[in-house]
This record gives sequence, C-alpha cells and structure tokens, in this order.
Amino acid sequence: MSMRMRRKRNFDARMDACGDLLLAKGANGILNMKEAAETFRALVDFEKAFGNHQPVVLEIGCGKGGFVMELAVREPNVNYLALEKMSNVILTPMEEVKKRGIGNIRFLNIRAECLPCYIPEKSLSAIYLNFSTPLPKLGYATQRLTHRNFLNVYKKLLKTGGKIVQKTDDREFFEFSLQEYEACGFAVENVTYDLHENGNPAWNIVTEYERKWVECGSPIHRVEAVWNGDV
Ligand SMILES: C[S@@+](CC[C@H](N)C(=O)[O-])C[C@H]1O[C@@H](n2cnc3c(N)ncnc32)[C@H](O)[C@@H]1O
Repeated sequence: MSMRMRRKRNFDARMDACGDLLLAKGANGILNMKEAAETFRALVDFEKAFGNHQPVVLEIGCGKGGFVMELAVREPNVNYLALEKMSNVILTPMEEVKKRGIGNIRFLNIRAECLPCYIPEKSLSAIYLNFSTPLPKLGYATQRLTHRNFLNVYKKLLKTGGKIVQKTDDREFFEFSLQEYEACGFAVENVTYDLHENGNPAWNIVTEYERKWVECGSPIHRVEAVWNGDV
C-alpha cells in the first residue's frame, strides 16, 4: 500500500453528515502563521457554536479523539474544541461524537498554524498537546507545536491563568518543550518524567498513542505550563 492514507469510503457524504460539528476546515496548503493570518479571518463565535457560555478547552492533534471524548463526558460543564489537520483522521471522532450524542465537542479540521485566524484572543482555559509529532530538532524545530513561535500564539489565545498540558514519550522533545515554556514566561508545574510509574493515575485519560507507548514500556512525560502573564 502507498504511504498515503486511503480516503475513507463515502468520505464526503460522511463528513457532510457531521457537518454541524465542524467549525472550520481547509487551509491545508497554509504552512505558516503569517500566511494564514493574511489569508483568513474567521473567528469562531463560541456562544453560537456551543449554545452556552461554558469555558472552552482546545486539544491540538486529537487524532482518533479518545482523549477528548472521555474528557468531555467527565466534564460536561466545559466545551471542547478538537483540532486535527488530517480530514481522514478527524472523521472518526466526529462520527463517534455524533453517534454517542456528546454535546460539548466541536471540531476544527485545520493546521495548528491557522489557530489565530479562528480562535479569539483570551478565550481558552487550557490547551492539550497529547503526543504531538516530535519532529527532528534539526531543521524542523520551528514546526514543533511547542516551539516559541507557537507558544507566543497560545499565550494570546489563553486566558490569564490558563495552561498548556503536554504529554509525550519523547525525552528530547520534552526537554526542548520545557526550555521553550520557560523562555516564553510560562510557569512550569507538575513535571513528571514517568506518569505511569505506579500505574495509571485515576485522573489521567490514556490517549491512543499513550497506550501504545506504555505497552512498549516507554515512560510518559507530562507537564503543565501555566500562563499568568498578559500580552
Ligand atoms: C502522534 S498523533 C497523536 C494523536 C493523539 N493525540 C494521541 O495522543 O493518541 C499526532 C496527531 O497530530 C496531528 N498533527 C500533527 N501536526 C499538526 C498540526 N500542525 N496541526 C494539526 N494537527 C497536527 C497529526 O495529524 C496526528 O493525528
């Protein structure tokens, strides 16, 4: 089979059937934030999208969405935005949310680079980065989702006191991220290099990638980076 993922059967019709859950799509060719900002200006109206004033939390790179669905069920008084660049991938959690009737999740089928075009400033309570693609530091550092270029955007989107919660199995990427948080003025809290040391904590929701790495015996690293500043 080729490296390209095959499109799911009846893809367009199935996407359309979940269309009410999708707040934004496209911008696949857009690779940097400057270009995105010049091309789009389509800020999402959260009250209209969710029909209430609940706090809003974002997951970047939701994949199959097991994490965000579990969290949304545990926390019905919070609204969740699940962002994923691959339309073929995001269809799975969209269909599942529809099937299960989970009311507090909406989807963004865009690249993280386009976030400032869609998310109003000072609107998010938290951002989850679960097993973001580590990408090699050499040559790709600026595309890492914890590079300071991204952190400086997240700062604007977060409310004061809002936080980034990151999990990864990649030690080098984790240490790079810790340095970036500190360089950008985040308060780094609750750092662990082995989240599953004594088994999975009851509060922790295991993601698809996390399960895979835990089964391989890789320690899971986790950090909360709190934004107390003002931009
Ligand atoms: C390694 S997977 C992790 C999936 C899931 N969060 C988990 O923990 O099981 C990373 C996901 O992030 C998505 N992704 C990577 N870079 C992205 C970007 N710049 N914007 C949006 N999504 C991205 C990928 O398509 C992929 O689905």
